[in-house]
Amino acid sequence: MSASITTDVVRAAEVIRLGGLVAIPTETVYGLAAHALDPQAVARIFEAKNRPHFDPLIVHVARREQVEGLVTRIPEGAEALMERFWPGPLTLVLPKRECVPDLVTAGLPSVAIRIPDHPVAQDLLRTSGLPLAAPSANLFGRVSPTTPQHVAEQLADRIDLILDGGPCRVGVESTILHVGDDGRLTMLRPGGVPLESIEAVAGLVAMPDRASHEGAQLAPGMLPSHYAPRALVTIVDSFEGLADPGEVGVLSLEPVREPGRFAAVEVLSAAGDLAEGASNLFAAMRRLDAMADVRRIAARLCPERGLGRAINDRLRRAAK
Ligand code: TXA
Ligand code: MG
Repeated sequence: MSASITTDVVRAAEVIRLGGLVAIPTETVYGLAAHALDPQAVARIFEAKNRPHFDPLIVHVARREQVEGLVTRIPEGAEALMERFWPGPLTLVLPKRECVPDLVTAGLPSVAIRIPDHPVAQDLLRTSGLPLAAPSANLFGRVSPTTPQHVAEQLADRIDLILDGGPCRVGVESTILHVGDDGRLTMLRPGGVPLESIEAVAGLVAMPDRASHEGAQLAPGMLPSHYAPRALVTIVDSFEGLADPGEVGVLSLEPVREPGRFAAVEVLSAAGDLAEGASNLFAAMRRLDAMADVRRIAARLCPERGLGRAINDRLRRAAK
C-alpha cells in the first residue's frame, strides 16, 4: 500500500467511516486522523506511528456543540477560552464521557479536544460527521509534518490517504491546557496560541511540576526527547567560535554573521518575527537534517515570549 495525495474530501470521509487512516491538514501541523469513537481505527493510528499506548491523542471536532457529547462537564473558564480561540491552535483537556475509548485517552479520565482552523480539516469533519482522533502525522519521536510531502516520506506505506491542504500556516502544534474541575488552568504544552493571549482571557495559567506525581499524570506523552532529527542538535548561546563550522548546520531565528563558514544555515525569519519563525521551524529542521555534510545542528533559543515559547520547547526537546 502506498497512500496517494488527494484533495478529494468525500473520498477521505469514506475512508474514515470505514475505519481507515487519513493524514489531514490543520493550521498547526498535519494530523493522522481516524474515527475517534472506533477503538479499532484508533489502534491503527498507534500502529502506523509506532506510538506507545501511554501517549493520548487529541480529538478534533467541527463544532462547539460536539464537545458536550464527549465530556461530562465544561468547567467555568473553559467556555471563554473556546469562545475566544476556537477554531484555532488551542487544545483543552476536559473530563471525558464513557463513549471516548480508553485507547484515545491512554486510560486517563480526561480527553483533549480542539476545533482546527483549516478549511480542509473543517470540510472533512463536517462531511464525515465524526469526531477525529489525530496526533501529528509523523513516526513517533520524529519531527512533525507541515506539508503533505513530509507525511508521505514517513508514513506513505502505513496509511490509506493523504489529504492535501498545502503547507501549514502556524507550523507548531497546538497549545495544550488542562482545565481542572475548579477551572484551574495548567499549561501542558506551549504551542500555537501564546501564553500571554490565554492569560489575557483567563487569568494566570499554572505550569505543571513534571517531577511531581500530579504533574506526570497531567502531562503524559510530554517526553523530553522528541522532534529528533538524525543529526545531533545542540543549543548554543552564540554561533561564534563553534568547532568545525564546516560540519555544522545552523538554525537561527534571525540572519547570522558570515553564513558561508557553515555547512548550511536556516534562518527562520529574516525580520526575526516569532510567528513566521514558528511556521518555518519543522521544515527547516528537516532540510538541515537531509544535508549530507551537516553532522551537527546548532540552534539558538528565541526570546521566551509569544510563539518563542513553542519554538524553544521544540528546540530543547530536539536537543535532548
Ligand atoms: O496541533 C496539534 O495539536 C496537532 C494537530 C494534528 O491537531 N496534534 C498533535 O498531537 O500535535 P500530538 O501528537 O502532539 O499528541 C497530543 C498530545 C499528547 O502527546 C499528550 O501530551 C497530550 O496531547 N494529550 C492528549 N490527551 C491528553 C489528556 N487526556 N491529558 C493530557 N494530555 C493529553
Ligand atoms: Mg506529535
